[in-house]
Amino acid sequence: MSVLTNNLFKPIMVGRIKLAHRIAMAPLTRVRADPETAVPTNVMETYYKQRSQAPGTLIVTEATVISEQARAFPGVPGIWTKDQVSGWKKITDIVHDQHSFIFQQLWAVGRAAKPNYLFSLGNDFVSSSNVPDLTSPYNQEGIIPRALTIEEIKQYVKDFAQAAKNSIEAGFDGVEIHAANGYLPHQFLDETVNHRTDQYGGSVENRARFTLEIVDAISEAIGSDRLAIRLSPYETYGDMKYGPATLEQYAYLLKELEVRGLKSGGRLAYIHTVENTFDATNSVGEPILKRPLEFVRNVWSGVWIRTQHFSRDLALDFADLDDKLVIGFGKMFISNPDLVRRIKEDLPLATPDFTKLYTGGASGYIDYPEYAEKK
Ligand SMILES: Cc1cc2nc3c(=O)[nH]c(=O)nc-3n(C[C@H](O)[C@H](O)[C@H](O)COP(=O)(O)O)c2cc1C
Repeated sequence: MSVLTNNLFKPIMVGRIKLAHRIAMAPLTRVRADPETAVPTNVMETYYKQRSQAPGTLIVTEATVISEQARAFPGVPGIWTKDQVSGWKKITDIVHDQHSFIFQQLWAVGRAAKPNYLFSLGNDFVSSSNVPDLTSPYNQEGIIPRALTIEEIKQYVKDFAQAAKNSIEAGFDGVEIHAANGYLPHQFLDETVNHRTDQYGGSVENRARFTLEIVDAISEAIGSDRLAIRLSPYETYGDMKYGPATLEQYAYLLKELEVRGLKSGGRLAYIHTVENTFDATNSVGEPILKRPLEFVRNVWSGVWIRTQHFSRDLALDFADLDDKLVIGFGKMFISNPDLVRRIKEDLPLATPDFTKLYTGGASGYIDYPEYAEKK
């Protein structure tokens, strides 16, 4: 397959920015921020510099906490203090110096946080309902989260909008709402977790309300063309079980976003989905590939980033079938800082050291070499 004619290496407009190609770095939590202040550290500057080296690349940052109340566990970064904004500014400057682009993923953690850590900070452990995540490694005691009050929900919406403004002040090209992978907005979207009987639960429209209020508040704060959202309809991570209404739930949400997009200045920069590519193995234990998200294109006509388990060949195939598609790569960006070049030139890919994903420090983080010809 020729990369010269394939869409994957053609420029594309994403909101206000023009990418040089359609390979994006997916958000990756790496737990290298200051554990107390949640300020980005020097190794993070090097890490993002390495990965944005191909001009015109879109980077989505690791999930970044929006407020003191929304925290997760030590070592993940935030964007609610002045020091955090200054720390991120150094990173956005480096990325822009290389003519690449960077969106910040905005994160409210809810019941997926470490409850005892939250209590030590004087915070509450909250979710849409009082339903715990029984798979969480951080909550083996099975502590039950408290359902947010309506007043608190409204405060979260404001905190998302303030965090988005802070991200723009820190030099980001835009923000991506983390509504995927079992975190707070997903805890409202999923019918098996959200048992509310007020205007935030009990129907497809009500379960989408929190997420859409965040979308509208951020759009007003920074403009919808600098806003994106990540969704994972069939994700089971974080004890998400999804249910019979899942398809209808996400089709409704996407339709609402599309309707906003049809109005002048209302279109989000992109929708980002996680594929949930595998959920079964065949008789010899090989994963069976499935892609249940084709319905997205029936509803959403804007830029769409699809991530999870993409190989080079699959990325080239998919990009050529859809002129508004960008392919996200996660794990391969961990171990291949020059991933864009490697995909373009069909060079071998290195495998990440999975024992060092969350260990902190430089090792297994900024010491993956670029590709070098063997002598
Ligand atoms: C170490 C690690 C950290 C991750 N952190 C995040 C995160 O902060 N936010 C998020 O939305 N997804 C996160 N993900 C999911 C990735 O963005 C991506 O969806 C996943 O790795 C599948 O894509 P891949 O097969 O290309 O790796 C993480 C994945 C890994 C492996």
